[in-house]
Amino acid sequence: MKRIVILLSALAAAALIASCGPAKPKVPNIGITIYKFDDNFMSIVRDKIDTLAKAVGPDKLIYSIQDGQGDQSKQNDLIDQFLTKGATCLALNMVEPASAPVVIQKAEAKKVPIVFFNREPDATEMAKYDKAYYVGAKAQQSGTYEGEIVADYWKANPKADKNHDGKMQYVMLLGDPANTDAKYRTEYSIKAVEAAGITVDKLAEDTAMWQTGDAQNKMQAWLAKFGNKIEVVFANNDAMAIGAINALKAAGYFKGGKYMPVVGVDAIPEALDALQQGTLLGTVLNDADKQGQATFDLAYSLAQGQPATTSVGPLCDADGNPAQNGHYIWVPYVKVTKDNYQQFKK
Ligand code: GAL
Ligand code: CA
Repeated sequence: MKRIVILLSALAAAALIASCGPAKPKVPNIGITIYKFDDNFMSIVRDKIDTLAKAVGPDKLIYSIQDGQGDQSKQNDLIDQFLTKGATCLALNMVEPASAPVVIQKAEAKKVPIVFFNREPDATEMAKYDKAYYVGAKAQQSGTYEGEIVADYWKANPKADKNHDGKMQYVMLLGDPANTDAKYRTEYSIKAVEAAGITVDKLAEDTAMWQTGDAQNKMQAWLAKFGNKIEVVFANNDAMAIGAINALKAAGYFKGGKYMPVVGVDAIPEALDALQQGTLLGTVLNDADKQGQATFDLAYSLAQGQPATTSVGPLCDADGNPAQNGHYIWVPYVKVTKDNYQQFKK
């Protein structure tokens, strides 16, 4: 009898342990949002992340990728939903990087790590949360490369100074002014031209919000206003450089010896085609594959409660120096011209 009692209580204890014992490990759950699906470059990054996440399989990873639609309040709602639905990590391409502090607070309250990517939040805000990471590229470098491509062209082609005044008359198409990429590309492209000993003369500068259509309209208006006075077109990205090229083509450029040097950033497929056709002077590879890979790797490791890891470069500090306990992955840019564009074609 005693034995039976012991056996029974042992069974009961086992049943108890089974019912309230350690919970089954949670399936990692990543909430991902892109500032705007309708952005050429970010679509490539998004596809990369999606492909990698899908390959893991639904039993090992739950994930969702949502469109911020260029509206921060809509994106905030998406982030709230991710958190209520049990996200174990967030991967965020912010509409307005200045809104990051609010999001950081919400995630921190639930101890959910965040991987920001492409649109960089303020470094001081990032430093307030030890589970906040950033994947991106140093925009200064892309600006410098754009400027160097133009300076090389200018020096090799004395006729580029169409009015022979010894100055480079240029127009600049800006991305989203709230974005550090736009700010630094504008600043550093011109700095590089000046560093090469060339005097510049800015005719016009305006935002086309990273978009081809807006850029085409701006360029058309500038051509109507300045015509042949324009000697160089700088664009903060390829989508806008292509918009400018469309307007230039419509105005009779790129045939019969009528030429305009146009530079962009990203090396999207359309830009590589334009390089091949000779309508784009140069671009700078913004490595969507590596940025997507690093974002996914970090998010997936963090979502599992592990330390942040990725095969893409070392973790660095905000300045780009490899650092123990670093929170940044900086993917290098590459200069792309007619001499090497073929190696970037897919
Ligand atoms: C930049 C890219 C742009 C645009 C922007 C969005 O890095 O060059 O084309 O995608 O990101 O934040
Ligand atoms: Ca000139």
